[in-house]
Amino acid sequence: MLLSGRIPKHIGIIMDGNGRWAELRGLPRIEGHRRGAERAKEVIEAAAEIGIKALTLYAFSIENWQRPSSEVMTLMKLLEFYLKKELSELMAKDMVFKTIGEIWRLPEDIQNLIRDAEEKTALNKGVTLIIALSYGGRNEILRAVKKILSSDVRPEELTEESFDSFLDTAGLPAPDLIIRTSGEMRISNFLLWQGAYSELYFTDTLWPDFTKDELLIAIRDYQMRERRFGAIVTRSDAP
Ligand code: IPE
Ligand code: IPE
Ligand code: MG
Repeated sequence: MLLSGRIPKHIGIIMDGNGRWAELRGLPRIEGHRRGAERAKEVIEAAAEIGIKALTLYAFSIENWQRPSSEVMTLMKLLEFYLKKELSELMAKDMVFKTIGEIWRLPEDIQNLIRDAEEKTALNKGVTLIIALSYGGRNEILRAVKKILSSDVRPEELTEESFDSFLDTAGLPAPDLIIRTSGEMRISNFLLWQGAYSELYFTDTLWPDFTKDELLIAIRDYQMRERRFGAIVTRSDAP
């Protein structure tokens, strides 16, 4: 699968619509999450083939804790299943695994699995896979501010670059492209600081129906965008 043109270094995906996918089929919501997790696997593989350096998947927001405990519990079980099952695959693909968010709020056995996967994959050289879990952009910024206040950084030393290093995403490039499925046109607290200049791509497709081909369509759309970052683009063919 070769794609010519500018490949985004970092893609963020708000994987939305699992519940509606299941409800449309008269299935319990968890079936949508199950199918969604399989789609995530496919997209992770595709990202590696395409040559993306970092992929952030929004899997569970800090606001998602408000859902019924039965749904939260089944989501945690699903997460545990994949963390156990996929570590060998991550190693085989030379991928680096990271998480962002308030990981300490997750069940302890899941925290252990995450720590293990992060440690074992830390020195790998391939794609960095970041899973946003118990994550909220505002919460992340607030935690960064608290870290700064308890550090010895002086206000005059603080820059956008140094602030970056206090975020959960420290060391990662900002997302070039953020994709959201399911027709909702909002950011829902995802990568608020990092996404300041991300290109946004919205599709009506529900996450469990999102395919590699649609990822390629999103990237082609991104390749047509003119990223100006507030400046003026000078074209070589300008009069
Ligand atoms: C996204 O699907 C997955 C999570 C938020 C965990 P939803 O569960 O939000 O599905 P919809 O939006 O209700 O269809
Ligand atoms: C955003 O989806 C969070 C994830 C995809 C994990 P939600 O379904 O929770 O967002 P809202 O409630 O529609 O904004
Ligand atoms: Mg949703």
